[in-house]
Amino acid sequence: AQSDRIESLIAKMTPAEKAGQLSCFSDQIRPIGVPFNPGLATGGAAEQIARIKTGQIGMLFNGVGYAGAKAAQDAALATRLKIPLIFAGDVIHGLRTAYPLPIAEACAFDPDLAMRTARAAALETTALGIHWTFAPMVDVARDQRWGRVAEGSGEDPYLGIQLAKARVRGFQGDDLRDPTRMAACAKHFAAYGAVSGGQDYNFTEISPATLHEVHLAPFKAAVDAGVATLMSAFNDIDGVPSSGNHWLMTDLLRGEWRFRGMVVGDYTADEELIAHGYAKDGRDAAKKAFMAGMDMAMQSNLFNLWLPDLVEKGEVPLARLDEGVRRVLHLKDAIGLFDNPYRSISQKAERTSVSTPAMLKLSREAGARSIVLLKNDGNLLPLKKNPGRIALIGPFAEDRKNVVGTWAFMADEKLNVSIAQGLRARGLTVTTAPGSEIEAPLPGGIAAAVAAAQSADIVLLAVGESQLMSGEAQSRSEITIPAPQMALAEAVAATGKPVVVLLRHGRALALHGAVKDAPAIVATWFLGSESGNAIADVLFGDVNPSAKLSASFPNESGQEPYFYNHKNTGRPAPDTGSQEYKSRYRETKNEALYPFGHGLSYTSFAVSNVVVPARMTDTLAVTATVTNTGARAGDEVVQLYIHDRVASRTRPVRDLKGFARVSLAPGASKRVTLTLKREDLRFWGDGDWVVEPGMFDVWIATSSIDGDKQSFELV
Ligand code: IFM
Repeated sequence: AQSDRIESLIAKMTPAEKAGQLSCFSDQIRPIGVPFNPGLATGGAAEQIARIKTGQIGMLFNGVGYAGAKAAQDAALATRLKIPLIFAGDVIHGLRTAYPLPIAEACAFDPDLAMRTARAAALETTALGIHWTFAPMVDVARDQRWGRVAEGSGEDPYLGIQLAKARVRGFQGDDLRDPTRMAACAKHFAAYGAVSGGQDYNFTEISPATLHEVHLAPFKAAVDAGVATLMSAFNDIDGVPSSGNHWLMTDLLRGEWRFRGMVVGDYTADEELIAHGYAKDGRDAAKKAFMAGMDMAMQSNLFNLWLPDLVEKGEVPLARLDEGVRRVLHLKDAIGLFDNPYRSISQKAERTSVSTPAMLKLSREAGARSIVLLKNDGNLLPLKKNPGRIALIGPFAEDRKNVVGTWAFMADEKLNVSIAQGLRARGLTVTTAPGSEIEAPLPGGIAAAVAAAQSADIVLLAVGESQLMSGEAQSRSEITIPAPQMALAEAVAATGKPVVVLLRHGRALALHGAVKDAPAIVATWFLGSESGNAIADVLFGDVNPSAKLSASFPNESGQEPYFYNHKNTGRPAPDTGSQEYKSRYRETKNEALYPFGHGLSYTSFAVSNVVVPARMTDTLAVTATVTNTGARAGDEVVQLYIHDRVASRTRPVRDLKGFARVSLAPGASKRVTLTLKREDLRFWGDGDWVVEPGMFDVWIATSSIDGDKQSFELV
């Protein structure tokens, strides 16, 4: 019956009305931070309401607030066919309540946590009148120079797949009609994470094998998990822009993957086909993007401008126009808008379901679980309950602006907890000194910071990147801590006081000098609203850190793109002996400073009795004993890596294929089973997936570089 309703609507629609449904725009009625006054819609708001009334808009995005949403929906329902609007938003890691940046949350190696934060984000977002999020961002990103690494799940496709599935499920649940659920959007399709040189919007040079095994894999997982929509990317692949790529958006996505949802283009990505040199003008761009498989154009207005004409002239088949409209209307129907167009638009929900205590508690929990203890010489951490005099130094000490990170521009800043606040909330007296601006020296700053350090027993040094230094269009050629903060770090280290470095960052960094040499280093990323409390929980040991890096910290920026699952080459550099004519750099090591999967705890763990059956046919259950050998309760993330020794394509030196979180009391042991499936051993061969029998190495490890190598044979 629903589909009859949609078909009968399509039958009544004019080409212009259809094009309107395929066009979306950033919300001018209630742009972020500007309350809508129903009696006084002027300028952009009035204009947009008028355009909705004439059926030129199918969706609005990134507006929040009851009054504006109601006015917009009223306008949509005043059109001839009364087709409701859908409201979307960039809810990447929360809306008002922010959760850790995805790259940080990925460090928890905990799909259940990712599902819970996505679920909580959906609860809050739908209460604010949004039905569809442009998340999860599932681009695998292996070049930390790229600013958008912040939004993804790091450098590994297996971890990316698990988190993509979890987030889709967390946002969407089982039934999108549930008014507390929202449609998800896996983006950016595809290979945006592979932009050359880590420069945003750049072209990609990428082999079919890497494309399928690494970059497409999380999208396929999201599609299999039932994601409602995909967003096409800005970059090209092998010379064809993703947003005009018929092979990608139609042959692969619709043909092979059987995706039945809708594809929205990224912001003006259709129009950008002109700058790519792939379309000659707006008309050509609209035609190429639409015929390639983009169903909805974001912001360019090109579909409104050109689709009716293209259909009339026979250059775009009416059937394709109807197909696009059908997908959009099905999405609206799936979330129940035809039956309840004011779904999610409720003044009461705005008051009661936003930034609830449960959401803030989850933000704090997720924050603490995302913190990676990189180094802890001499067990400087955790701090004692009465640690003596604390000097909290650095531009992030009291900062409440650079707390949540990129792509949380609708987050409620009032909720932000600074590090100083987190410490003071525990009744501690803390002396703070910024010492430096984030990217510029602060006159007199270093002297004041040194004085604070000198009269302290312990120094917490909070240094790193502002939240604007990662995210869209924030590529960096040097992924280091800005020079003025490094000068501060050197001066503070020279006092000889014990220093705990608290990094703030949206990407893995190359650490140098006094920061690298500090006895304790904590990767705190951007942790969301409750950042300062989460950091204090870990510093004082209320939460024993258990996170593992989702992205390797290289020694130098020049190692990027760096990823643990690289190939061996014909001349790998040996650990010992001559490095002449080997694959290496003159100036730095090949290894990472802190590799993927690395992360310490306040206790210690041992992996023993690893049992690997000699042969595998369909599955292989690898078992191991994990023991907490230290004095505190804690969690270890046990990781399973494989390496295919000889294959018809060269294979990575290691590849993550499983992990498990084990919680153990001091002295306790648990037997863990990680099961490999045949599919885990496949790779992209000559235009298709292949599984080749033979010998495989396998490690049960606590990072991507440790563990004892064992082997099995795939028969
Ligand atoms: O969702 C985003 C996308 O990730 C980057 N361009 C703009 C879109 C809408 O804000």
